[in-house]
Amino acid sequence: MSEPTWDVQDGAIVERPRNVRKHPLLHRIYERHDELLAEQLPAGRTLELAFGQHMHPRADIGLEGWPSNAETVRKPALAGDARALPFGDDSFDAVIGRRFLHHVPPADRPEILRETARVLRPGGRVALLEGTPGLYRKLTKGAAFRLGLLEEDTDIYGHLSETAVTDLVSDSFTIIEKQTLGSPLMLASISESDASARLLDLYERTQFVKWWTLVVGERPESVA
Ligand SMILES: C[S@@+](CC[C@H](N)C(=O)[O-])C[C@H]1O[C@@H](n2cnc3c(N)ncnc32)[C@H](O)[C@@H]1O
Repeated sequence: MSEPTWDVQDGAIVERPRNVRKHPLLHRIYERHDELLAEQLPAGRTLELAFGQHMHPRADIGLEGWPSNAETVRKPALAGDARALPFGDDSFDAVIGRRFLHHVPPADRPEILRETARVLRPGGRVALLEGTPGLYRKLTKGAAFRLGLLEEDTDIYGHLSETAVTDLVSDSFTIIEKQTLGSPLMLASISESDASARLLDLYERTQFVKWWTLVVGERPESVA
């Protein structure tokens, strides 16, 4: 019997996600996101929450709900829960979290932002990247399931609108950047063929198709 690849822990969907290195176009897209985040974040000690199988090159340490992700990532990492961070106050200059808030029950998400603010120094920054709901996502994912490209849909809580991400961040942070990132080539990005990477240029030129929201917040002097 094959190993399970996901589970629900205290309501959070933890999983062994796709290894982006096996998907040339997706890997290039992740690298683009890494560059974009590096432009937004201050230098210094950086934590990545819920990194899956890809940690930002600048991250010093990661924290993951699915323990084997922390064992195989080839960077310092801990198994743990983003709702209760095992770090002291003011320990980091930057915190990154990508595509994971939608795995946590809505009522628990504010606690993640409060914990993030607690472990960041004043002036430190958080960058969150979340999938945006909408008709395009619905149709594209529907096609992916029908084509057998996606096997299981673990997105039981649904995705967060740009407003939902911004509201969560603004409760604990001063918003300093908001961007829409496109990914109109979702079906191709699942491909394992090297040829898929040739679509990167098309991906760059079609960024207006909303797929992800990036929100960056700065920690004020004091936090609630
Ligand atoms: C869709 S994956 C995204 C992984 C990675 N950030 C990426 O963008 O490829 C969501 C990740 O969130 C992790 N996760 C979910 N709830 C969590 C929690 N409460 N604490 C820590 N990690 C969590 C899952 O184990 C999974 O690796």
